[in-house]
Amino acid sequence: MKTQREMEKKFTIKSFQKAKDEKQPITMLTAYDYSMAKILDSAGVDALLVGDSLGMVVQGNDSTISVTLDEMIYHAKAVKRGAQHALVVVDMPFMSYHISTVDAVRNAGRLMKEGGAQAVKLEGGVEYAETIHQIVRAQIPVMGHIGMTPQSVHMFGGFKVQGKSLAQAQKIIDDAKALEKAGVFSIVLECVPEELSKLISEIVNVPTIGIGAGKYCDGQVLVCNDMLGMFNDFIPKFVKQFAHLATDIENAVISYIEEVSTKDFPKTEHTFSIDKEVVDKLQK
Ligand code: KIV
Repeated sequence: MKTQREMEKKFTIKSFQKAKDEKQPITMLTAYDYSMAKILDSAGVDALLVGDSLGMVVQGNDSTISVTLDEMIYHAKAVKRGAQHALVVVDMPFMSYHISTVDAVRNAGRLMKEGGAQAVKLEGGVEYAETIHQIVRAQIPVMGHIGMTPQSVHMFGGFKVQGKSLAQAQKIIDDAKALEKAGVFSIVLECVPEELSKLISEIVNVPTIGIGAGKYCDGQVLVCNDMLGMFNDFIPKFVKQFAHLATDIENAVISYIEEVSTKDFPKTEHTFSIDKEVVDKLQK
């Protein structure tokens, strides 16, 4: 639990590095709207990620591929309004940084200027190091994302653990080193074996944030709909459901339907009224 004093302090990219240096695990969760951002922020989470996972858990698509930059800006604005303490990181969606470096810097700038992002995250390693370097040069903090990168789902042939073979593991280590050199302030490691994420967390000086990457990362991130038990279409092995809100919501709605049907809701305390005198006049 964070102290009042810690909660009053804004978590920044400098706090990310300080946390790694002081061996304090960093907590990050995704958020896609104001109400949820406000709850997660006041609970004390260090960073909120407006993830392009919204394509799946908010929009109901089977991948993140179709999410647009304008959609990311829309959700980022809402989350930013709910975040007092947490750092707001916004995903660059598929094709917003793949075409040219100029395009990538412009789009990262839009997420910051229009969406209120305090940092952006993009997927890819060695191949995107120069792009990341140019975004950082434009004074936009970048979080890297390597391992199983969901925007490459069709190249991987599905959402599969990455880095099990020597060649794959070496590639992910090279990616991490290239990202650090390019100036990222942190690196998400998704769906990689624990032994590999431990090694990478020791090799790079910037904090690593794991999702399906075991306990040796410098921090953890989960999709909030997954960890709150609100999204049950599929539950990846690495998800722990800390609550079962889908069941709670369903039960609440069943009660609502029941009470409306039996006229038990609304009661007097939920109702407005006017003076009897006015009613009498109206009836005449
Ligand atoms: O989009 C997202 O939510 C993410 C996390 C899974 C790291 O990138």
